[in-house]
Amino acid sequence: SSLKLYVDSLPAIPKIYGYSNESGTPKSTTLTIGMFAKKWKFHRDLPSTTVFVFGTSADTATFPGPVIEALQGVPLYVKWENHLPQAHILPNAGVPAVVHLHGGVNEPQSDGSAFAWFTPGYREKGEAWSKKVYTYPNVQHPGNLLYHDHALGLTRINLLAGLLGAYVIRNPKVEHPFGLPSGDLYDRHLILADRSFNADGSIYMNKTGNNPSIHPQWQPEYFGDAIVVNGKAWPYLKVRRRKYRFRITNVSNARHFLLALSNGLPFIVVGSDSSYLSAPVRTATILLAPAEGFDVVIDFSKATAGEAELTNSAPYPRVMKFIIAAGNATDESRIPTNLASYSAAKTSDASVKRYITLYEYMSATDGPTHLYINGKRFTDPVTEKPKAGSTEVWEVINLTADHHPLHIHLAVFQAIKAREIVDLETFKNCMTQFKDAVKCNISSHATGKILNIPAHEKTWKNVVKIEPGHMTTIVVKFRLVDTDEPYPFDATAQPGYVYHCHILDHEDNEMIRPMNLVK
Ligand code: C2O
Ligand code: CU
Repeated sequence: SSLKLYVDSLPAIPKIYGYSNESGTPKSTTLTIGMFAKKWKFHRDLPSTTVFVFGTSADTATFPGPVIEALQGVPLYVKWENHLPQAHILPNAGVPAVVHLHGGVNEPQSDGSAFAWFTPGYREKGEAWSKKVYTYPNVQHPGNLLYHDHALGLTRINLLAGLLGAYVIRNPKVEHPFGLPSGDLYDRHLILADRSFNADGSIYMNKTGNNPSIHPQWQPEYFGDAIVVNGKAWPYLKVRRRKYRFRITNVSNARHFLLALSNGLPFIVVGSDSSYLSAPVRTATILLAPAEGFDVVIDFSKATAGEAELTNSAPYPRVMKFIIAAGNATDESRIPTNLASYSAAKTSDASVKRYITLYEYMSATDGPTHLYINGKRFTDPVTEKPKAGSTEVWEVINLTADHHPLHIHLAVFQAIKAREIVDLETFKNCMTQFKDAVKCNISSHATGKILNIPAHEKTWKNVVKIEPGHMTTIVVKFRLVDTDEPYPFDATAQPGYVYHCHILDHEDNEMIRPMNLVK
């Protein structure tokens, strides 16, 4: 992209509160949030263009949508409305939509099942649609969540168009003692997305697929050549010489970021996805997968130069720039020694071990055609039926050549280790034939080099990167991890949940499976 770098300032994302505070005691409230088509300008030198975005009205809707601030223990009700036009702005048919609260601990009826999509006025609805107003009980520990579209087969296009936003659960009693930078100026979201733009300012997407005879419109991965942060391409942010907290989330379809700061300052990581770490971890780089999040502190008082770029590894090495003011600023925030404590991730707590295998089916001439989990399609019968309240171990076997960011609805999970699969070709051939890891003798193949999990990823996550050619051991908790209590709602109801790869182009082409909890 030939767009000029760092000409727009980083937008602050508007906030809406998921509780009312009239009496001084926070109480439940109901919000109505719509999806609207509206004009958006991604860069000073680009004409404005139509996007699909969330907001309480078309006037206030933004790319990304408003940050919803909820409180732990105070349920929030949201009526999601679809005000999108008949025709999509990107090549595809129709605009059904449905909202999923990513990282949320919610009943299945409010989870935004891909089959619970609806069109404007609820005129058409998917087979799993059951209600207009979703319940978010906010029973889980404080942390960073996301809300985004989850419509069947359209998620990649609806998110590209802008149907995404951040959701924060706070608990001042737990978080205030940490002393981290706070307030709108010093506690900010950075929502990263790659997009390509046409000369008229519109978002570019291929009209045709790589395998037109099989998929007229599907590409295995969308990669944009411009990096958009909070709705602006390559913005800058003026900062003072003090500590800032940034809640960084990658909402790209497929792009991973290897983030670093050009002036050598470390990221002081305090959390990942929806959980805190047990103690802050300093690191020079962060590998950020689609839908993954890191909650970091950057201490600009330690900067020697007046500028710092937030960089990615090639081929699009820039994300945004911090312009650091001269002169020291007051700063009462601190980096605490300890953060939150949750239940430990112990494989010995698991009552069930499952093998979950990621496959890629290739065409001889045109590359990948389908990505399957366990060799099954989304609509094949449910095979994962964890017990509500239980802990499981999932051995996730990646037979493909790429990373896949695994996301499980409802549960939180933690990677323990990844082990290289030796004699991968033999194992793959066996798996292609039998689709059974035990029969194919996984225990004699998952014996290679051990990859340790970086310290800043050791917490209860909702996206874990699954290494190619490895078996990654994850502990999955189907209960709350701060109180160790079971869910206070019926998680076994229909339409159940899903787990999937969060490369949206993979998710939309069968790298997704249903999951039903049982009693
Ligand atoms: Cu972030 Cu199933 O989604
Ligand atoms: Cu994938």
